[in-house]
Amino acid sequence: VPNAQKTVRDCIRTIPDFPKPGIMFRDVTTLFADPRGFRMCIDQLLHPFADQRFDHVAALESRGFIMGGAIAHQLNVGFIPIRKKGKLPGETLHEEYQLEYGEAVMEIHTDALKPGDRVLIVDDLLATGGTAEAGVKLCRRLGAEIVGCAFIIDLPDLGGRKRLEDMGLRVEALCAFEGD
Ligand code: PRP
Ligand code: MG
Repeated sequence: VPNAQKTVRDCIRTIPDFPKPGIMFRDVTTLFADPRGFRMCIDQLLHPFADQRFDHVAALESRGFIMGGAIAHQLNVGFIPIRKKGKLPGETLHEEYQLEYGEAVMEIHTDALKPGDRVLIVDDLLATGGTAEAGVKLCRRLGAEIVGCAFIIDLPDLGGRKRLEDMGLRVEALCAFEGD
């Protein structure tokens, strides 16, 4: 269709065999580099939550920060970083999560959220859901209410959506890649 506009999904580049053979890497740098693509991405991430009220956007280091800052700016709310171990200078809570090989830790400042705060969790990609689950747990331990989790990409074969939905979470993603 000659006049069809490129979608968010069309702007995501796939790099086969990165970081190792057999992995199809979904690369959002091409989406972020495209001025229409980046704006579409931010607008569409917010669209399902248009009728909701938020106190904060919490995003997961590092790719989640790229959208998280833009979304917080758009919503006129504060931005809360959920960071990899050892990066936050104040008092923190931490949560371990599984990586493909070994484990990792995410942290949040203990004074970043207070009970009843309404939070939108943001990351670029939902795979096994381990990273997002760690972020959700950190926010919930501070008493926050997670209004939803917004991702650009869902990889449904890896089960992350079900894992988050089983925690009572609303999950929204702009596109999915399955079957590889
Ligand atoms: C990637 C991606 C998500 C996470 C999804 O981050 O950005 O945060 O993996 O995987 P999961 O659902 O199986 O937990 P990565 O750990 O590669 O780090 P980065 O964002 O710093 O590049
Ligand atoms: Mg990440």
